[in-house]
Amino acid sequence: MASAPVRWMKVWDAPTRLFHWALVLLVAGAYATIQLGWIDWHFRCGYAILALLLFRLVWGVVGSDTARFARFLHSPLAALAHLRHFTRREPDTEIGHNAAGGWMVVVMLALLLFQAGSGLFSNDQTFSEGPLAKLVSTGWSDRISGWHVFNFNLVLGLIGLHVLAVIGYAVVKRHDLVRPMCTGMKRLPATLAAPRMAPIGLAAVLFAIAAGAVWALVTIA
Ligand code: HEM
Ligand code: HEM
Repeated sequence: MASAPVRWMKVWDAPTRLFHWALVLLVAGAYATIQLGWIDWHFRCGYAILALLLFRLVWGVVGSDTARFARFLHSPLAALAHLRHFTRREPDTEIGHNAAGGWMVVVMLALLLFQAGSGLFSNDQTFSEGPLAKLVSTGWSDRISGWHVFNFNLVLGLIGLHVLAVIGYAVVKRHDLVRPMCTGMKRLPATLAAPRMAPIGLAAVLFAIAAGAVWALVTIA
């Protein structure tokens, strides 16, 4: 039987791809710097992550089709139905995140937002504290520092699951998800309509506003 015609289609815009790989580097950076005791650089990584997350939240509303939350968030039942097909080898017809991956994305964003947000109020029991720690009592800053440390275990667990899922798709279903996250392009059935891509200039303006907001928060507070 002849297989259905396929064509290369742009599925991920540059801002979403840059967001992803910058996030990977910065989360690794935040971990490495705190282990090395370079607290100032840990803070800087955290601020950059916060700016990326704020940008991504807005991009999830006004960005390209595949970046939009409303487009990739389906009911938890749809996510379970998707997972039930996990072992079935079939052509990749997914234009953006699948129903299960969509939930992974929002949980990951929420955990990272909590991680970066709690860091602002944390202290390291010696000389350093986040720029907003002075707005709360020492007791609360200590408590929030505990949450900051604990939440990182959840972040790590989810990253592990995320990478395992990507490997699982490659091995079990033979779907290469990494290449599209690098190049933006994916081979999909020619009958599928290409997603609409938002202007890159809009992303640049939104990221500048997000970075400015973080800068204002940490310098003016
Ligand atoms: C610090 C580690 C990582 C974090 C925090 C992270 C986070 C995320 C997030 C938030 C998304 C959603 C992207 C969006 O819609 O904006 C995503 C998607 C994705 N990530 Fe990661 N990621 C990490 C590591 C990796 C690694 C190491 C790989 C490669 C093996 C990878 C491959 C992917 C792929 C392929 C997608 C798109 C999945 C799809 O097609 O639906 N990620 N990741
Ligand atoms: C998503 C971004 C961030 C990640 C992934 C992250 C990760 C971590 C990790 C792994 C630790 C060490 C936990 C341990 O002792 O085992 C830590 C500690 C700490 N982080 Fe962050 N962090 C982030 C953002 C921030 C921000 C924005 C600030 C402040 C501006 C901050 C301030 C601190 C402080 C003060 C500690 C020491 C806490 C203590 O030892 O009790 N972090 N962070």
